[in-house]
Amino acid sequence: MYSRLIGTGSFLPGNPVSNADLAGRGIDTNDDWIVTRTGIRSRHLAAPGVTSSELGLEAARRALDMAGVDAADLDLIIVATSTPDFIFPSTACLIQGKLGNKGATAFDVQAVCAGFAYALGIADKFIASGSHKKALVIGAEVFSRILDWQDRGTCVLFGDGAGAIVLEASDKPGILATALHADGSQSGILNVPGQICGGQVTGDPFLRMDGQAVFKFAVRVLSEVAEEVCAAAGLSTAEVDWLIPHQANIRIIEATGKKLGVDRGRIIVTVDRHGNTSAASVPLALDEAVRDGRIRRGQKVLVEGVGGGFTWGAALFEF
Ligand code: UT7
Repeated sequence: MYSRLIGTGSFLPGNPVSNADLAGRGIDTNDDWIVTRTGIRSRHLAAPGVTSSELGLEAARRALDMAGVDAADLDLIIVATSTPDFIFPSTACLIQGKLGNKGATAFDVQAVCAGFAYALGIADKFIASGSHKKALVIGAEVFSRILDWQDRGTCVLFGDGAGAIVLEASDKPGILATALHADGSQSGILNVPGQICGGQVTGDPFLRMDGQAVFKFAVRVLSEVAEEVCAAAGLSTAEVDWLIPHQANIRIIEATGKKLGVDRGRIIVTVDRHGNTSAASVPLALDEAVRDGRIRRGQKVLVEGVGGGFTWGAALFEF
């Protein structure tokens, strides 16, 4: 039994915010620095009060619509997010309620920018086990809420958005291999080291990062995990039609493509227009490439993510 992708959807809040717009808001930065170091030209930022569940709901509706699936028929809903609406209930339960589904298994996955790869890998295992038949997998983030807008080294890198897919049980090939990994010894190089205690925020509630350490770690594990899922599926990277890496930085994406021998023409890139939307970045890019006709039925697609934890993972599927 395979899990097969039958619908994609995505949603970006508001209008694009350019690098010049950020500089105009008093951040000591410029378009040239951001484009040269990251490839990012613009990102979308949610208006105050707009939540991950609202972005995720819109992406989910679009994916369900493409799949022709009624929300009531879902039996699994997984949301990957590090910026949930509440401590609890989970964002998955909030979206389930808004979709009008009752009874499905619903929970959040917290693996930061590897969150979508984790959620997809978990959903695949639920379906392959035979226990579940129709899954909604969402990556939804409002990372702008956890950015220190005084820290120019991080605040220019991220954006808000959501992407979703619908999977169903099938005897035709769908997801061919997944791999999920973590190394908690690296928790210090990318984190939001704050907590709520006794009604107060304690520690530091903003994203902190050692950019160069993250860069090196990301390139290494993104190429390793891509090789791992290809080997598990008995394919070479040359047989992969499309690579969709986590959209953090064009230099990380290009270095990973080079290590894997995948040329730029086979890599889906949205980081220039979305920035880094963490768990939403891969399903946003996937939906864009499905809707504009680049990804076609029967093609092999490799998606992969890496993020705080450190966490990393990949899935290889036939579309
Ligand atoms: O999901 C994973 C998310 N994380 C990532 O993708 C981050 C991976 N890391 C990177 O992409 C890069 O490390 C960065 C783009 C974050 C930074 O590039 P870098 O080449 O490592 O720059 P740096 O941090 O060493 O900073 C170089 C200079 C510094 O100035 P001085 O000390 O040389 O005078 C910074 O203060 O660039 C300065 N700088 C900026 N200048 C203009 C840092 N941020 C900015 C900025 N605008 N936004």
